[in-house]
Amino acid sequence: MSAPAKPARRLDAETAADIAHNPFKADFPLLESNPDLAFLDSAATAQRPACVLDAQRRFYEAKNANALRGLYRLSVDATEAIEAARSRVARFIGAAHARDIVFCRNTSEALNLVAASFGGLVLKPGDEVCLTIMEHHSNLVPWQQACRRAGATLVFLYPDENGVVTQAEMDAKIGPKTKIVAAAQVSNVLGIENPVREMGERVHAHGGYLVVDGAQSAPHLPIDVEAIGCDFFAFSAHKAFGPFGIGVLWGRDELLDAMPPFLTGGEMIEYVTEQDATWAPVPEKFEAGTQDAAGIVATAAALDYLDGIGLDVVHAREQALVAYLMARLAELPYVRVLGHPSPAHHHGVVSFVVDGIHPHDVASLLDLENVAIRAGNHCAQPLITWLGEESTCRASLALYNDQSDIDRLIAALKTTWTTFNPESQK
Ligand SMILES: Cc1ncc(COP(=O)(O)O)c(C=O)c1O
Repeated sequence: MSAPAKPARRLDAETAADIAHNPFKADFPLLESNPDLAFLDSAATAQRPACVLDAQRRFYEAKNANALRGLYRLSVDATEAIEAARSRVARFIGAAHARDIVFCRNTSEALNLVAASFGGLVLKPGDEVCLTIMEHHSNLVPWQQACRRAGATLVFLYPDENGVVTQAEMDAKIGPKTKIVAAAQVSNVLGIENPVREMGERVHAHGGYLVVDGAQSAPHLPIDVEAIGCDFFAFSAHKAFGPFGIGVLWGRDELLDAMPPFLTGGEMIEYVTEQDATWAPVPEKFEAGTQDAAGIVATAAALDYLDGIGLDVVHAREQALVAYLMARLAELPYVRVLGHPSPAHHHGVVSFVVDGIHPHDVASLLDLENVAIRAGNHCAQPLITWLGEESTCRASLALYNDQSDIDRLIAALKTTWTTFNPESQK
């Protein structure tokens, strides 16, 4: 069995913000073994540090058994490992009770659970569900379905030209008919932080509920579900240095208790007869079937890694990276950045377009230079349409990036431009 991973270093924010240096890259085996790769797609999925990979392997080497099902030691160990991880996740997001943490596959499944189970419980004909136009399809399509089933209506909050959802817009759209507001805390296209706390205050004043999609905030910002004042919060481990296949849903105790199950089958029941079944208490009621115990344990290791560095330190480094990226992009007259002009309003994400060159072509040519970015609609088609685009390029950053990654992106963008515009070289 391998030795336990070393705890992450804790640097001060000022040292971490020195992006000419990279004290984090060595933690990430994939980046270490690909020194020429500029990986700028962390909003899609982050790279994993060795301590997370080790935790997953160690589970299989030392604790592997089906949790909950066995009365023998190994199975009890697996069950205890899951419950320890549940407490770890609760601590990471400021949740008071570990039992209110439900493990699922990803943010998409968590939001589907809320829309189907909670939406089905509370939505009535004539109710409104209010979303921002910048929602990822995972926080849009489930609500379209829930509204269709209930006879409720979807209403959208539109941002101003900088991507900001204003107080006036919230006042106009969140009212007595609003039963649910569901919003991304951070947009995966614009990188902007939405005023979710203010949305919660408004919808609560009308007796409604707030669902927060934390897929792009949990890796970048300190999360406190009580301070946000939300009723549900969802995020994916794989965007926060954890494994694929683990999503987290937190919900308020009394709401989770009242909700019907989403998926049914093994482990989520209390008693089953030929014709009927009763449900296990929360959280098992929402965790049908065999859990990915190794993934859950590795998720806790990822949160240890993040907290070990400190979200304030992560934030300081990401802000320095975004500021440098936006300043360098501004040097290219043929590149237009979308969203807020200030780097302070981009949490690790900068979307842009290159005049006259399709984003897919940009991304493919950058790939030839070993620069990995995302191009497309980023699963936020209504936002891209509202922005008047068909598709955009997106560079997204994490603490393991440095100045040289951005320099490589800029150099590759110049090459792309001259490839498409050979006359510009004359
Ligand atoms: C804001 C946002 N919400 C939800 C999701 C869906 O996450 P997952 O694919 O892990 O379910 C993403 C993924 O990119 C996202 O950026």
